[in-house]
Amino acid sequence: MLAPTGSTRLAAVIGSPVRHSLSPLLHNTAFAELGLDWVYVALEIAPGSAIEALSAMRTLGIAGFSVTMPHKEAVAAACDELTADAAALRAVNCVVNNGGRLIGHNTDGDGFTDALATELGLDPAGLRCVVLGAGGAARSIGLALARRGAAQVAIINRTVARAEEAAALFPEVAVVVAPGEAATFISDCDLIVNATSIGMGAEPADGADVPFDTELIRPEHTVVDIVYRPLVTPLLAAAQVRGARTANGVSMLTHQAAIAFTLWTGHAAPIPAMSAAVSSMLVD
Ligand SMILES: NC(=O)c1ccc[n+]([C@@H]2O[C@H](COP(=O)([O-])OP(=O)(O)OC[C@H]3O[C@@H](n4cnc5c(N)ncnc54)[C@H](OP(=O)(O)O)[C@@H]3O)[C@@H](O)[C@H]2O)c1
Repeated sequence: MLAPTGSTRLAAVIGSPVRHSLSPLLHNTAFAELGLDWVYVALEIAPGSAIEALSAMRTLGIAGFSVTMPHKEAVAAACDELTADAAALRAVNCVVNNGGRLIGHNTDGDGFTDALATELGLDPAGLRCVVLGAGGAARSIGLALARRGAAQVAIINRTVARAEEAAALFPEVAVVVAPGEAATFISDCDLIVNATSIGMGAEPADGADVPFDTELIRPEHTVVDIVYRPLVTPLLAAAQVRGARTANGVSMLTHQAAIAFTLWTGHAAPIPAMSAAVSSMLVD
């Protein structure tokens, strides 16, 4: 990293907790790679204090914020302007400070589809997709798949009411599938995306470390797990054994950050360097 100067630009991630964030590593790697006079830091912002953080962003002239839990919805409500995706999702993960006017973006969905294109050469147009989960990440991914022409996006979630809320964002291609009826949809689809938190870290108390019966996976499937700790989740390990094409969560993480980087700096992001830096931190 270059030593900060009088003209160093500042970007930051706001969240709580935030000390575990990989965003400083991703963005500082990118600044160093391109020799940009920018610095990126993590700011612990208490729940309920997002509006004060945005006010400070204006006062201090901070060029960009990444936004993580629990502030995505509060920031969406407080920005001066939202992109179409951020408005639909009512969640912001990236703020651009345009001369004091704060523009809220949501780069998760485009990060996911950019990752599909780059890592797997996959275009969602015409694909039958299954998205497991109905939280913030699943909604962004489902919306992005629908916008890119997916033929169907089946949403399977433990809490069916949340799946119905997600489906309302892209009703033309969404199908809500109860967990008990998932098998047919999974067998017949092209792309399976795990957007639940199943597979992260320690095995949960109920013992399920994969989000569905992995015997359903065929070599024709593409399986993406957006969980990135561990790099190879039990779902990805099973999918690889069964001959499916796979991608892990580092690809989405890197591409959503790359979009933010370009919005702030105007430069194309050095994606291979960012991806290598974060993967080396996450080695199992
Ligand atoms: N790679 C990336 O760039 C990226 C980006 C964003 C998020 N992520 C990862 O994606 C995951 C989801 O994030 P999120 O922000 O969408 O979280 P979220 O809003 O809290 O949603 C969590 C989802 O997981 C489901 N779930 C959790 N535990 C479950 C269990 N034991 N059995 C069945 N379903 C369960 C929840 O179902 P219910 O609705 O029934 O509770 C919900 O659909 C996290 O692991 C996060 O780290 C990765």
